[in-house]
Amino acid sequence: MSDSSSQQNFTLAEAQARVSELSEIIGYHNQRYYEQDDPEIPDVEYDKYFRELLALEEQFPELKQSTSPSLRVGGAALEGFDKVTHAIRMLSLQNVFTKTELEAYHERLIKLLDVTTLEYVAEPKLDGLAVSLRYENGILVTAATRGDGTTGEDITANVRTIRSIPLKLEKAPKVLEVRGEVFMPRSGFNKMNADLRKQDKKTYANPRNSAAGSLRQLDSKITASRPLTMNCYSLGETSADAVLPSKHYARLQWLKPFGFPVNDLIQVVEGVAGCENYYAMIGSKRDSLDYEIDGVVYKVNDIEQQEELGFVSRAPRWATAHKFPAQEQITIVENVDFQVGRTGAITPVARLKPVEVAGVIVSNATLHNMDEVERKDIRIGDTVIVRRAGDVIPEVVSAIISKRPDNAKKVVLPSHCQECGSDIVRSEDEAVARCIGGLNCTAQRKEGIKYFASRKAMDIDGLGDKLCEQLFDAGLIKTSADLYALELEQVVE
Ligand code: IVH
Repeated sequence: MSDSSSQQNFTLAEAQARVSELSEIIGYHNQRYYEQDDPEIPDVEYDKYFRELLALEEQFPELKQSTSPSLRVGGAALEGFDKVTHAIRMLSLQNVFTKTELEAYHERLIKLLDVTTLEYVAEPKLDGLAVSLRYENGILVTAATRGDGTTGEDITANVRTIRSIPLKLEKAPKVLEVRGEVFMPRSGFNKMNADLRKQDKKTYANPRNSAAGSLRQLDSKITASRPLTMNCYSLGETSADAVLPSKHYARLQWLKPFGFPVNDLIQVVEGVAGCENYYAMIGSKRDSLDYEIDGVVYKVNDIEQQEELGFVSRAPRWATAHKFPAQEQITIVENVDFQVGRTGAITPVARLKPVEVAGVIVSNATLHNMDEVERKDIRIGDTVIVRRAGDVIPEVVSAIISKRPDNAKKVVLPSHCQECGSDIVRSEDEAVARCIGGLNCTAQRKEGIKYFASRKAMDIDGLGDKLCEQLFDAGLIKTSADLYALELEQVVE
C-alpha cells in the first residue's frame, strides 16, 4: 500500500486510483466495525486512511463521489431543508395499552382474516425518529423524515454521516426504500450530555430529543459528531426487479446482507400468548438495553394477510404498538437538599411529591449541580417533569413554568456543609460546588468507603452501600483500611 506522504505529487489519474483504493479500504473497515463488530485495525490507523482521503478530495474536488466515506464527517451547512414527497406514505401505528386491548385487537384480526391463529413479528418499539432511505441503483440518494406522512424533510446530508447506514449497496434492486428509526444509544447520549455540560452548553432532555435535535442540524458536521444509529423495520417503494420474500420477518433478514442494521431482538411469535410473552420478556430487559424503547410492535408476518387487512386512516390494521409505562411523569418539588459526595462535590437533590415512574415510586431526583439548577431554572414548589430511565438515578428534566406558584422559592447553595460545617466553595470555572472538609467531613469519608467497596473499585462481595453505612454509623469503621481489621464478632451483631 502506498504511503500517504506522496499524495501532493499525485496526477489526477493517480489521485483517482488512490481515492477509489482508499474508499474501498475504508468501506471494508467500516463494515468490520459497524456490521460485524469486529474491527481489524486500530482507530488511529483507520483515521490515517480517512484523513488521506479527505486531503485528496480537497485537492481534487472533482473526485468526490456521492458515496464517498468522507461524507460521514458532514459537509457545507444548509440554508434549510427541502421537502420530499414520499413515494409511499409513511404510516403511524395504533396502540394497545393492556392485555384486554391486545386480546381484542387479535380477535378482530383473526375474524377479519377468517383464521384461527396468526403469526406476528414482535419488535422493540424504538424511541427515536422515523426515517426513510431511498436507494437508486444501489446508491443512497435521499433520506427523509416522516413529516406528516406524505411529505417529509430532506435530511440526506445528515443521514449520510450516520455510519451504520450504508451509502452504497451491492446487487440492490433499481429502487429500494428502507424505513426505520434513527436513535441515539443511551451510552452515547449520556456521554454527549456530560460533554455539553462540561462546555456549559444546553443539554438534551432525553435520547429521543437529542436524536431529533441532531438530525435537524443544518450543519451536517454537527450531526456527524453525534452518536446516532438506525434500526430498519420496513420497506417503502421497491422496483419490480426486487425479489422480496413473502413474510415480513424474512424481509428484515433480507435487508441484513446489504448492510442495513436490523434489531436483534425481533422475533416471530404465535397468537396473543406469543405477543404477551414477548412483551414481558422485552419489558424485563428494558432497563438494561443501551437504547430507549417505549413499547413493542406486533406486525402480521404474512404480507398477503397484511394486504388483506389494509389500513385504517393513517395506520395499518396489520400492526399495533403495545406501549410500556411512560418514563417521564409530572410531580412537584417539595424541597431541595444537598448531598456531599466522596470528593466533596455537592449534589442538589430534589425531594419530590412521590410519583410512580415506569413502575417505581420516585421521591428523590438528582439536579446534578447548581449550574444545571440555574440553567433549567428549577425552584422549590415547581411542577416538574421527572424521568427515570434504565438504571440511571431519576432526574428532574425541566420545570413547567406555566404552573409555577407565586411563592416558588429559588434554590440557594448553602455556604457551609451540613455534615461537617466546613465552607462550601464553588470556583468560577467549575459547575460543581465542593465541601472543603476533606477527610474531616464524615459524609466524604462515608462516601469514600462506599466507593472503595463498590464494583468500580475493590468490588467487595456483599458489602453494599447500606452495609457500609451501618458499619460507619455504628462506629466500627472510620476509613476503608478499618474494613480489614473487622472481627467476626463485631459484625455479627
Ligand atoms: S412500523 C407501517 N416498527 O413508531 C408501520 N415503527 O408510533 C410503520 N417505531 O412512526 C411503523 N419502532 O417512528 C414500526 N419496530 C418498529 C418501530 C416503529 C419505532 C416508531 C416509528 C413510527 C412510530 C409510530
